[in-house]
Amino acid sequence: MKVLVVGSGGREHAICASVAKSPKVDKIYCAPGNAGIGQIAECVPIGAMEFDKLVDFAKENEIDLTVIGMDDPLVGGVVDKFEEAGLRVFGPRKNAAILEGSKAFSKDLMKKYNIPTAGYENFDSPEEAMKYLETAKMPIVLKADGLALGKGVLICQTREEAMEGVRTLMLDKKFGDAGNTIVVEEFMTGKEVSVLSFVDGKTIKIMTSAQDHKRAKDGDQGLNTGGMGTFSPSPFYTDDVDEFCKKYIYQASVDAMAAEGRPFTGIIFFGLMLTEDGPKVLEYNARFGDPEAQVVLPRMKNDIIDVFEACIDGKLDEIDLQFEDNAAVCVVLASDGYPVSYEKGFEIKGLEQFDGKDGYYVFHAGTKLDDGKIVTNGGRVLGVTAKGDTLKEARANAYEATKLIDFDNKYMRTDIGKEL
Ligand code: AMP
Ligand code: GLY
Repeated sequence: MKVLVVGSGGREHAICASVAKSPKVDKIYCAPGNAGIGQIAECVPIGAMEFDKLVDFAKENEIDLTVIGMDDPLVGGVVDKFEEAGLRVFGPRKNAAILEGSKAFSKDLMKKYNIPTAGYENFDSPEEAMKYLETAKMPIVLKADGLALGKGVLICQTREEAMEGVRTLMLDKKFGDAGNTIVVEEFMTGKEVSVLSFVDGKTIKIMTSAQDHKRAKDGDQGLNTGGMGTFSPSPFYTDDVDEFCKKYIYQASVDAMAAEGRPFTGIIFFGLMLTEDGPKVLEYNARFGDPEAQVVLPRMKNDIIDVFEACIDGKLDEIDLQFEDNAAVCVVLASDGYPVSYEKGFEIKGLEQFDGKDGYYVFHAGTKLDDGKIVTNGGRVLGVTAKGDTLKEARANAYEATKLIDFDNKYMRTDIGKEL
């Protein structure tokens, strides 16, 4: 069969690598892809938001299955467009992708269906938000309602910071219309865990857990980024946590969406915080995490095509989802200066040393081909993933492997998975 993957980051490279393992697949296309994806798929110069062009391409090339990697097209309704054209596509429809697309919607959903999450209020007026903040308990968290590249969350220690935050989000519109509505949320503390799942509208199957490192610098200092590294499984995701989440969070979320007339098909990514009062949902995403996909997918035993098809056909209950009994660590190699400003266009050397190196993966995020050479083309450049029998071993392998790759302004955190 012919598969089209939509997106261009490390996540889409990991998806393409899993798809490439399926004996059912003859040809993979990726729109728009990147230099690394281009080694296993044919990259097509169509942007992820160019829905009509994507649909036309899928029709003309008789694509059997399209997989949407990114949040923006999902929230924008790309799945509906494919379905209207009679094409098979993996991902939630627009009315279900709102689970990620609107934080105010997801908070209201959790409240209505008693799914554990932080206490909150939604505001669409800056004056009302400021009035509330005059007496609210600090620290407090402000969230832009809409998509903001994972950066629309402000943790405010003082009342002054919170007032300034309202101005930033709602008046200065730092994240555009995403800040028309904000969620003002109780501040929680605890370990964070990412749990990805496959969903077919009614059944949910949980993947192995992972943990992200969102801050740019060692010791969780510096600015929030898209993610500087990950490990899987998370040792903090214990059997007790799993049992609690199965009872109160996972199926409850899927049932809530179905009850609202918004059945969810695709990936639900649960961002959890393990608080003293038990696990709570920080956020939902409607797609694989990046870089979480880069440690979770390499450990998955199933043929990913079978799982995608079971989700689309409402037969996920027939799938026995299995993961290897090992660990994986991904260290992101970034361009120095990310996430603020950085240079691009430097040649990346050493990539060929990974050819045929079992248990190691170099997932490309911001790379492109320039005159036959692979050069840096983004803030996050590569994700270097290694497996090991234990997290410690995987971590040592991953850091050893980062030494094989060189490019000007190469930057990475040195403490991914260090606390393990
Ligand atoms: P989100 O995009 O909602 O996952 O938020 C981004 C990050 O902000 C999370 O990964 C947490 O580290 C932090 N965060 C979000 N909500 C809260 C909260 N209620 N309390 C403490 N930290 C939070
Ligand atoms: N790594 C977090 C995310 O994909 O949103």
